[in-house]
Amino acid sequence: MAKYPKPAEGTWTQHYPQLGTEPVSYSDCISPEFYEAERKAIFERAWLQVGRVEQLTRNGSYFTRDIAVANTSLIIVRGLDGEVRAFHNICRHRGNKLVWQDYPREEVAGSARQFVCKYHGWKYDLDGKLSYILQEGDTATSYDRVDAVQRQLESEAAITSADMKKGLAGLATIGATAPFIGLFGTVLGIIWSFQGMAASGSGGIASVSAGIAEALVATAVGLLVAIPAVMSYNYFTNVHERFQIEMTNSASDVMAFFLKKQGVSRGAA
Ligand code: FES
Repeated sequence: MAKYPKPAEGTWTQHYPQLGTEPVSYSDCISPEFYEAERKAIFERAWLQVGRVEQLTRNGSYFTRDIAVANTSLIIVRGLDGEVRAFHNICRHRGNKLVWQDYPREEVAGSARQFVCKYHGWKYDLDGKLSYILQEGDTATSYDRVDAVQRQLESEAAITSADMKKGLAGLATIGATAPFIGLFGTVLGIIWSFQGMAASGSGGIASVSAGIAEALVATAVGLLVAIPAVMSYNYFTNVHERFQIEMTNSASDVMAFFLKKQGVSRGAA
């Protein structure tokens, strides 16, 4: 039975003043504590849909799925035996992300016979078994450390670069399309001006000039939007390129430092 029976006439708040008419708080929609509580109470206890079995068309097919509410990434894979399985997308060596391509935060899909960690080459069968450890028993060699630093730097640089490029595509689209939208408005305005002239039967440039002037405002507005968008796009692209160069230089310095340390420790040995 409903808690509040529907009133026969008038408004709900007239009949149930205890409901109040104050603004409803939305703090639970933006509260990090509430989100954490929801994650635990709802998402950690429910089945989560990560994809469809049709996405794994043949043995060896896989795709990754980031599950934000679980703070994890998964690999969903059809094994060589045809079974579909899901694993944490994490290498058990140092806890780095196992399967990714250009950008660690992007989802990937494909087919493989094994998963190979990009960091130190540990290999996993498609049923999750660890099948190969590079330099087992000696995972902290100088080579490994330098290699790990290099891969980590590359990974962080790729993430930072992807973050910085967010929104640039939108700016480029606005810069490229706004003049055409303005031009479209102008063309429509001119067409309507001439149609008005034809309908009224009056002729001469004077009778259409006011309409054409109004129509040209559309082009001006389009340019007003496009020019700042193109300038901002160029500015942020330059900033991004400069930052990439600086990141590459800094990464080289860090690598040079580690290589020097490696040489020093070898010399000392
Ligand atoms: S982190 Fe994967 S092999 Fe080292």
